Amino acid sequence: MTPSGLEHAVAARFAAFTDPYVSAPGDAFAFRLKIDHTLRVLGIAKAIVQAEKLPEHLALACHLAALMHDVGRFPQYRQYRTFRDTVSANHAGLSVRHALREKMLEGATVETRRLVLGAVYLHNKRTLPRLRSAGMDTVARVVRDSDKLDIYQVMIEHFSQKNPPHPEVALDVKDEPGAYSSKVIEAVLRRKPGDYEDIVYINDFKIMTIGWLYDLNFRASCRMLHERGYLETLFAGLPKDTLLNTLREHVRADLAQRLEGA
Ligand SMILES: [Fe+2]
Repeated sequence: MTPSGLEHAVAARFAAFTDPYVSAPGDAFAFRLKIDHTLRVLGIAKAIVQAEKLPEHLALACHLAALMHDVGRFPQYRQYRTFRDTVSANHAGLSVRHALREKMLEGATVETRRLVLGAVYLHNKRTLPRLRSAGMDTVARVVRDSDKLDIYQVMIEHFSQKNPPHPEVALDVKDEPGAYSSKVIEAVLRRKPGDYEDIVYINDFKIMTIGWLYDLNFRASCRMLHERGYLETLFAGLPKDTLLNTLREHVRADLAQRLEGA
């Protein structure tokens, strides 16, 4: 099978897998969100792959992994009616299990399957250590960046209340416009990812999302982040004080440096 033939086949299998979930009465809205998210993540992954000029076999694995990464969201939501892994199941593990069970990667080489399933399994780990397999490392990082770049958009829409609250953003947090937690902002100032456990206020969520800059792996991803203005939009929705101004200056300088390829 040619790479594009295989990609078409996997996309068709993904559609066939998700169709019954959307057709069942009740939760079509939640499932539709995940389908749309997946297709946007695929689009972003394609853009990164192209900008970074990845070789064909890695490009294919990136595209397939983007398509497969949230397959587990469907059985997860049907069984537990939540997208919160901590109170249900690790959805990345579910994605691997269901991709295998449904033979979604049939026609792919053993090596491509290894890259795809590895990247799918690693996509929601809090941090990713440098992997011994350079190919797997690249594919996992493309999927993680693509996923994050789409979640930025989802978060911003949620914060701006353009959309009604939806289950994709499970915000069990206090809505106090002037408040944020020092632990979260200190982590980002140290260029470390924030911890979900430290989140108390909506602003903590915004600050943590800003900190994802430090978890982006490719210059193409930073460029997209910059072009879409996500960080500035998030800062605009935060209180204005000295500490947040300092954070803004740090983050701006770091992003500029990443864009230069330093
Ligand atoms: Fe996911």
